[in-house]
Amino acid sequence: MTESEAAARIQELSARIHHLNYQYYHQSLSEVSDYEFDMLLEELNRLENQFTHLRPANSPTQRVGGSITKSFPTVVHKYPMLSLGNTYSEEDLGEFHKRVHKVLEGDFEYVCEQKFDGVAISLTYRHGELVRGVTRGDGTRGDDITANVRTIKTIPLKLQGPDYPEEFEVRGEVFMPFSVFEKLNAEREDIGEVLLANPRNAASGTLKLQDSGLVARRQLSCFAYSYLSTPLPFETHAEALAALKKWGFNVSDTYQVCHHLEEVMAYIKLWETKRFELPIATDGIVIKVNNFNQQEELGYTAKIPRWAIAYKFKAMSAATRLLDIQYQVGRTGAVTPVALLQPVLLAGTTVKRASLHNANEILRHDIHVGDVVYVEKGGEIIPKITGVDKSQRLPDSKPVQYLDTCPACQTPLVRTEGEAHHYCPNEKGCPPQIKGKLEHFISRNAMNIMSLGEGKIDLLFEKGLVKTPDQFYDLTPEKLMGLSKEYNGEKSGKTRTISFGAKTVDNILAGIQKSKEAPFDRVLFALGIRFVGSTVARKLAQHFSTIDLLEKAPYDALIQVPEIGDRIALSVLSWFTDPENKVILSRLQAAGLQFSQEKSAATATQSDLLAGQTFVISGVFQNHSRDELQDLISANGGKIVSAISKKLSFLVAGDKMGPAKREKAQELEIKIITVNELLGLLGR
Ligand code: IVH
Repeated sequence: MTESEAAARIQELSARIHHLNYQYYHQSLSEVSDYEFDMLLEELNRLENQFTHLRPANSPTQRVGGSITKSFPTVVHKYPMLSLGNTYSEEDLGEFHKRVHKVLEGDFEYVCEQKFDGVAISLTYRHGELVRGVTRGDGTRGDDITANVRTIKTIPLKLQGPDYPEEFEVRGEVFMPFSVFEKLNAEREDIGEVLLANPRNAASGTLKLQDSGLVARRQLSCFAYSYLSTPLPFETHAEALAALKKWGFNVSDTYQVCHHLEEVMAYIKLWETKRFELPIATDGIVIKVNNFNQQEELGYTAKIPRWAIAYKFKAMSAATRLLDIQYQVGRTGAVTPVALLQPVLLAGTTVKRASLHNANEILRHDIHVGDVVYVEKGGEIIPKITGVDKSQRLPDSKPVQYLDTCPACQTPLVRTEGEAHHYCPNEKGCPPQIKGKLEHFISRNAMNIMSLGEGKIDLLFEKGLVKTPDQFYDLTPEKLMGLSKEYNGEKSGKTRTISFGAKTVDNILAGIQKSKEAPFDRVLFALGIRFVGSTVARKLAQHFSTIDLLEKAPYDALIQVPEIGDRIALSVLSWFTDPENKVILSRLQAAGLQFSQEKSAATATQSDLLAGQTFVISGVFQNHSRDELQDLISANGGKIVSAISKKLSFLVAGDKMGPAKREKAQELEIKIITVNELLGLLGR
């Protein structure tokens, strides 16, 4: 293909994909199948990789990220990012209304909107294309996080035209939808990482990641709520919102034009409870004067507009007595304290338990059992304890003494320097850890043996039938028939009897049999190797393609896999050296589980042009992700290493490579090459 043919095709594909994206995200329409869509995107990506200088900055391929930003440049906001005044009561809102009324003569309207509890973002568009995304920062200057912003699918890269102004800014709130947040935390739990407190922190942490590929995977979203430009092409804020929607922005359709204070109050009352149906946490309602001229007339104080105000919902909080503290031991041995409370009604549900996180939290609040504590339900899913009413403390109560031995197996707990959690080190003998590992093995994203859920693992464990996952595959109808036990449903609190009749036994065995078809990456995830979540398992399976190659892989080969760092590599190595794990593994292999898979196209061998050569990749690359380059080198027989040494063949240098690295390479007379030179080695 000639360069001009490629340019034309890139333009055609990119316009088509932008159009399909718009239809999908804004009109819930799909003209093509997912497969056809993927094929178009793949073709575009391939062409852009071949003709790197033809890749448009806002190409739809940028949605998947891949670039690394070492530090985000600070930029000054063209229009400062202000905050809002807060009110908490109808009276205060009445005062605001009076002030507005006094300045504006004649009629005026308000627009009421949700106050989204995420992270504010400022987006600049020029000629219908996103050119910059900046955080709020201190309101005057923020961080340029454009590459990360481009991965957010509900932020348009190209607008639906043609009637948009040449240049303007949009303000909005970036957020992590509850569903994504819950999934992310479940994954973190799987690999024994500390859970994220709430979707807002998760969103704000994600926006600051240096690797936009990771940002893309976190599936952030955005609601647009302000339009800014000089001059303003609209008379009212409501018109601006309608135009934003038409151009392809994600505008929450919960806003409403209100003509009287009574209407505003009715809106507030309505959304005080209805807000729980939204995909994002909200903490109030924003009330804005609709007409832009009237906004101008009202003007600003130093930090806040006089034409808008936030009505904040009170955090839902209740006082109740702390009855006891229970300690739960997870699959990884991490101990979590849970507060057992006198049941109390909070935001429409009865709360009996609340999270206490860890020993530091208990110490920080100086909690005594028997205290009256405040429980709050914020953006978090699980209620938390936010304070203690010390005036009601019982005279002889004592501070909580944190456990020093495991509540399940009495092994002394350990706490690593710098870690918040205590751990039970008795990995192989502690019942909740053993059962937790079995539950993980059968879980949906692992072997998906749903016929073994709800207390059945408990029964199998207690009867001594299953302690390690390989033993699931030894089960027979004779061993299972007639087993029964009383089971205490943790959530329902009710006692039930589980007993295995013929139908249950059939189901269980069929589920186990079916699990033998689960692909290699799921089996790898199911093994429960610390820090190997489903994404990492997929990467490892793709890269090594068989368990034998993975087992034999030395440290250097492991960290060569995209996204596998020191911590994961060491954990994998240590898992495979454990003799008990070796036995489990060989028994699972004998049972017929999948321990290999075909190499993906990206990592499948393409040539041996780079055989015998070693590479270090350093710096930031405009048109290639690090993953791509690593895959390319591996697929052509080259080897990626982490450190520059005398034996190194090439240093592939991108932008912003550290000067120390360059000096070291020069000193050792290592060849420093650009990406284009690397492609040259491959005859591209
Ligand atoms: S308008 C001058 N509208 O609240 C007006 N802000 O306290 C500025 N926020 O940092 C903002 N939802 O991140 C506006 N519908 C909404 C909002 C909203 C959430 C956030 C925004 C800002 C903060 C102001």
